[in-house]
Amino acid sequence: MNHGVTISGVGAYAPSGILTNEDLEKLVDTTDEWIVQRTGMKRRHIAAPNEATSDIAIPAALAALDAAGKQPSDLDCVIVATATPDYLFPATSCIVAARLGISGKAAFDLSIGCSGFVYSLTTAAALIRSGVYTRILVIGAETLSKIVDYTDRATCVLFGDGAGAVVMERAEEDCFLGSDLGAEGSDPSVLYLPGGGSRRPLSTLNGQTAQQRLGYIQMQGQAVFKFAVQQMAGSVQAALAKAGLTTADVDFVVPHQANKRIVDATMKMLQLPLDKCITNIDEYGNTSAASIPLALAESVRAGQIKKGNVVVFVAFGAGLSWGAVVWRWLGAPVGEARPLDSRIGAAAVISVAAKT
Ligand code: ACO
Repeated sequence: MNHGVTISGVGAYAPSGILTNEDLEKLVDTTDEWIVQRTGMKRRHIAAPNEATSDIAIPAALAALDAAGKQPSDLDCVIVATATPDYLFPATSCIVAARLGISGKAAFDLSIGCSGFVYSLTTAAALIRSGVYTRILVIGAETLSKIVDYTDRATCVLFGDGAGAVVMERAEEDCFLGSDLGAEGSDPSVLYLPGGGSRRPLSTLNGQTAQQRLGYIQMQGQAVFKFAVQQMAGSVQAALAKAGLTTADVDFVVPHQANKRIVDATMKMLQLPLDKCITNIDEYGNTSAASIPLALAESVRAGQIKKGNVVVFVAFGAGLSWGAVVWRWLGAPVGEARPLDSRIGAAAVISVAAKT
């Protein structure tokens, strides 16, 4: 028997360190004008050197739980979507669950790049609708600054750090209206982190890491751009078709915040006006799996997305992968993030980058 599922609380957290376009002008051969024109980005939030992904996931998680009026002990499962886990293993979700005081509950990471949040929404919705679990915390959290090469102007302007979370639970009304997920992995090098996995284990790198930048994001920017523009609109249409809806029924699109030009092109292909698109790319840059819940939290708090709205979440990312979820918004509140102590901020990132 299928149950209904809803989102009952939303939370978001971004580290206080700020990296502006002007800061980047001091690191690489770029300009504020180029970055704004080509990406729409102005600032990014940057984790301190001692802040890992679980550290920024926790404040977002607590905010979502507060908003839902729930305790961690009310959860059955924690899912963390991330491409920048604390460690290759154990899963960051296990660390988050332990720090929330709910060791023993189910916890797993979902690794599918920037598509992680829409994949996690679909997975959590399936687990709740099928009756396996009653309440799941879904977190998208990234510290991409840890794997960004701050000497590579083609990538370092794009990425930032942040976390967003939603509490999903069984409900009378089913808010999950439809989903489309996909992946095409024939050429991992289009967008990948070359070192540290089983293809090039850290133990065998013998000093190659610094020379070949194997510990940093490598990306064929134009290929990713073309892929994104092709896939995002198609995925929205496919998810809407599964929901029995059309673009005329859509109140808001919350896209992965990869590049303002990609987002604008997607809206154009969908023949939807830009005022139906939620963007905060100027403030955060691309925060991968965190970008959709971060944008969701801000738009709900600003009163843009309202009760009863049909909202489409859509993303693309490493894999290459893509996905869209059509959701009926029932008016969940956004909680206040509880900040962590001891911030060092972007200045430390710049001084680390200057030494490499
Ligand atoms: N500042 C100034 N000039 C730059 C910069 C920079 N930061 N970066 C590149 N350029 C130069 C290039 O060297 C090139 O110069 P040339 O013409 O002399 O060779 C010129 O600008 C144009 O470069 P393009 O790569 O053609 O620029 P484009 O308009 O494609 O923009 C960008 C580059 C922003 C990377 C774009 O391709 C893009 O957004 N791609 C998608 C990236 C993305 O979304 N990645 C994340 C995926 S999600 C995930 O899973 C992590």
